[in-house]
Amino acid sequence: MCGVIGYVGSKPCARLIFDGLKRLEYRGYDSAGIAVLDTENGPAKIELVKAEGKLIHLEPHLGELPQKATMGMGHTRWATHGAPTARNAHPHLHGDLVIIHNGIIENYRELKEQLMKSGVEFKSDTDTEVVLHQLHAELDRTKDLKAAIMATVKHLRGAYALGIIYAREPGQMYVVKQGSPVVLGAGDGENFFGSDALALLPHTNRAVFLMDGEFARLTADKIEVWDFSGQPLRREPAVLNWSAASADKQGYKHYMLKEIHEQPAVMSSMMSRLLDLKANGFVEKETGLDALDLGRIKNVAIVACGTAHYAGQIGRYMIEEFTRLPANVELASEFRYRNPCIDSSTLVIAVSQSGETADTLACVKHAAAQGCQVMSICNVRFSSIPRASQAVLYMEAGPEVGVASTKAFTAMVLSFYIVALAMGVKRGKVDPGRLEKSFDAMRRLPALVDRAVNAAGVIEEIAHKIYEAQNMLFIGRGPSFPVATEGALKLKEVSYIHAEGYAGGELKHGPIALVDRHMPVVSIAPRDSTYEKMISNIEEVRARQGRIIGVGDIGDERFQSICEHYIPCPQVGDDHLQAILSVIPLQLLAYYAADMRGTDVDQPRNLAKSVTVE
Ligand code: G6P
Repeated sequence: MCGVIGYVGSKPCARLIFDGLKRLEYRGYDSAGIAVLDTENGPAKIELVKAEGKLIHLEPHLGELPQKATMGMGHTRWATHGAPTARNAHPHLHGDLVIIHNGIIENYRELKEQLMKSGVEFKSDTDTEVVLHQLHAELDRTKDLKAAIMATVKHLRGAYALGIIYAREPGQMYVVKQGSPVVLGAGDGENFFGSDALALLPHTNRAVFLMDGEFARLTADKIEVWDFSGQPLRREPAVLNWSAASADKQGYKHYMLKEIHEQPAVMSSMMSRLLDLKANGFVEKETGLDALDLGRIKNVAIVACGTAHYAGQIGRYMIEEFTRLPANVELASEFRYRNPCIDSSTLVIAVSQSGETADTLACVKHAAAQGCQVMSICNVRFSSIPRASQAVLYMEAGPEVGVASTKAFTAMVLSFYIVALAMGVKRGKVDPGRLEKSFDAMRRLPALVDRAVNAAGVIEEIAHKIYEAQNMLFIGRGPSFPVATEGALKLKEVSYIHAEGYAGGELKHGPIALVDRHMPVVSIAPRDSTYEKMISNIEEVRARQGRIIGVGDIGDERFQSICEHYIPCPQVGDDHLQAILSVIPLQLLAYYAADMRGTDVDQPRNLAKSVTVE
């Protein structure tokens, strides 16, 4: 969702904040703004600039800010309340007080009514402005910003990460956290805050993680943290292991393409960290399984959103296959609002690249409150979901910046494979022969993933044939069904071509009505146990003149002969792991089709990488 960043130190900060916003722009790009504290010209005064649309529109205004200012904060917005206009852009200023906000104030209507009754005039349509005026009213009363913050949060319902500067208390800024992510960065004679560690990496790798219900005061030399009741808290900085360079494009045209190409390296580094490849064993501490009471588990519930949900669907097949435990997978936004049958015998697995997705986080909290064991599979260390989980498997796939998830998806699938296999071994459900076969397949995987990403040329040619299509279907069975849905999601989010993924057997129950000679149907059919049925489903499409783009095994002439275009995939020798190899051409197809259509591949319209509101 929105991105926030703040700086206090001795350097001129306007450009520094702008550059930080660039790193956060994937969180939202409806509008942007920066406020700095001018202490050069008489009494300290807040100056700000704002612009509608992407950050590039803010850049020309940077010169309007006092160039010597050494404290300030910036915001990039994903609109929730109020249109994406300059008027609604953050920061919001009233007198000497300025704030930025990521989150949603759920009770803003009632607060707004009360404030309006007391004579406050609102300048924007945002929920954020109520926080500004409430805080201002409390400041009038308490004359002390810290006390005013503590009084204000008592009125707020919802999620918020707030940055606050008060010109009458120069040299310090406050950061408040409840429900939305924010990280503090500890520097040398300078301190920072940001929505995530990515924005801070060029300056420091020492991060202080605020918890919900906490707030902090940052000066150039000090970070102080309190809970909402004013109790001081000790927080030592954690050292992050991502480098700033790992978040750069490194010569690729887009982050999405770079991240697709990182997949072989991600696969091999995950395996060397999570597995003992020589002994066909698992590094239990890294897989998170050592933190679970495995004997207690009678069923598994997987929760996630978006791409992570599709990875969870493949994960479900793997858990059932290897552990013989009943497993379900559900959208986090649905799971949390019904009354799921979960208890202390349930293992809930939350899957999230960012570790911040609000709905997934809410499921984790709900499940923990029901006595479930909760494990998370996440990429971003120290993020909220792993912190709220009993056990964590970190994928360590490096920063994923492209809004459309690619390397995180394959990393999630591999994580599930390892977790399911390890649990299966512990439960005595995986015999030595099966284990050997699985490890052989995993050992082959990175080299085959490398072959798959390097077949980009073939896929670019196919993209040329289809990029003008208005609709596309994706079909698969077994693990290739979630691959089909993920392929369709990838295509629609980056190219804006309408696409749907279906189980091959389901086509004849409705969607086949859409098939005619204009409809490309991407058909994923590796030679697994569903192969024969898939070939029949593909023939049904062909009989209605659908244009078949096949994704199948290298050398499968039978399948190739019924396709208009064919994408040969290397075989890994394991039906579940094959999903990783099948999805790569679909990622590339979506990428090239989008690039040919001239869309904003890394920041597709209306989307945000990290969805921290419900
Ligand atoms: C957003 C992103 C998707 C992502 C989903 C879940 O919608 O645009 O790419 O799959 O959130 O994110 P998570 O960080 O929980 O995996």
